[in-house]
Amino acid sequence: MSAADLFEPARVGALEVPNRIVMAPMTRNRAGAGDAPRALNAEYYAQRAAAGLIISEASQISPEGKGYPRTPGIHSAEQVAGWRLVTEAVHRKGGRIFLQLWHVGRISHPSLQPNGQLPVAPSALKPAGDAMTMSGPQPFVEPRALEIGEIPRIIAAYRQAAVNAREAGFDGVEVHAANGYLLDQFLRDGTNRRTDAYGGPVQQRARLLLEVLGAVSSVLEAGRIGVRLSPINPFNDIRDSDPQRTFDYLASQLRGLGLAYLHVYQAGSDPFDWERLRRAFGGTFIVNGGYDRARAIAALETGAADLVAFGVPYLANPDLVERLRRGAPLNTASPATFYGGEAEGYTDYPALASTGT
Ligand SMILES: Cc1cc2nc3c(=O)[nH]c(=O)nc-3n(C[C@H](O)[C@H](O)[C@H](O)COP(=O)(O)O)c2cc1C
Repeated sequence: MSAADLFEPARVGALEVPNRIVMAPMTRNRAGAGDAPRALNAEYYAQRAAAGLIISEASQISPEGKGYPRTPGIHSAEQVAGWRLVTEAVHRKGGRIFLQLWHVGRISHPSLQPNGQLPVAPSALKPAGDAMTMSGPQPFVEPRALEIGEIPRIIAAYRQAAVNAREAGFDGVEVHAANGYLLDQFLRDGTNRRTDAYGGPVQQRARLLLEVLGAVSSVLEAGRIGVRLSPINPFNDIRDSDPQRTFDYLASQLRGLGLAYLHVYQAGSDPFDWERLRRAFGGTFIVNGGYDRARAIAALETGAADLVAFGVPYLANPDLVERLRRGAPLNTASPATFYGGEAEGYTDYPALASTGT
C-alpha cells in the first residue's frame, strides 16, 4: 500500500489543491462577541493550513439559523470582518478554506432564537432529545412549520451568506445539507410531511436544496460550491424511508451543476451503496467518517473517493498532513474540550516538531 495518492495534487472545482486530505467541518463553539470569529479562531485554522482544503465549522446564515451557543455567523458585518481574520491567516500559510453554510431548522431552542421565537422546520415535528442552550441541555420544542411564502426568504439568506463569504475572503462555500439540519430535514421524509411543492415525492423534497444551490451559484461560480450530505446518519433524530432512492435522485440532480464536490459523511448503520451515489453524481467525491491513514489510502487506491476528510484526527493534530506523510503517531483528542472554552483543547495540540518525534 502506498501513501502516494494522498499527497498528489487534485483539482477540486475551481481550485488546485496540493493533497487529498480535507479538514472536515467541526463546530467548536468559540466565537467571540456577536458570534464573530476572532484571533483565536484564526490561529486554530492557520495551524491546519497544510490541508488540501479546510472546510470551516458550520456558520449560521441568519439569526434564525442558529442552534448552539457561540457558533459563528456569516450574516453581520462584524462576522464578515471576523472571518476575514481567519481566511487571511489561512491564506498567509498557503492554505485554502471553504465556509460551511448552516441553518439548523428545528435543532434549536427559543432561547437561542431572535425574540425567543420558535425554531422553524419543514413540518411541526419535535425532535427527540435536548437542545444545547446557553444554560445547558433543554428539551427540544415543537418547531413551527415554514409557510411556503417564507421559502424565498430562506433562499435569499443562503444567497446573501455566500456573498458575505466571498467578501470575507473564503475560497468557496459548502452547503450543509447533512446531519439533520434544515436542508436535510426537507430532504428526508421522516421530517418533511409537507403537502406543498416542497414536500411529498423526492423531487419536491429536494427542491429547497436545489433552489438554494441555484441562488448560491448566482453569486459564486459553481466550482467554488460544495455540498455535504449524510444519507443514513440518524443524528438529530432524522430518518428516511428509502435513503438510497432519495439520495441517488438528489445526486443525479446535482450532476451537471458543475459543483466543486459532493462530500459524504458515511455515518449510519443502514445499508447504503456509496458507489451508486458517487456514480449518480459523477464529480469529485469526498468521503468522511472514521478514516485513518490506511483506510484513506485504500479509499483512494480503490477509486472509492477522490479526497478524504478527517474530523477528530484533524481537531487533535494540527500537522495531520505531515503525520500521515510520515506514518507518525497521532495525538489523542480530548472530547471534554470539543465544544466551547478557549485555547485549551483548541490551539494547544502539539505538532510533531514540538513533541520531538
Ligand atoms: C467536535 C465536532 C464538531 C462537528 N461539527 C460539524 C459541523 O459543524 N458540520 C458538519 O457537517 N459536521 C460536523 N461534525 C462532523 C465531522 O465533520 C465529521 O463528519 C465526523 O467527525 C466524522 O469524521 P471523523 O471520524 O474523521 O472524525 C463535527 C464533529 C465533531 C467531532
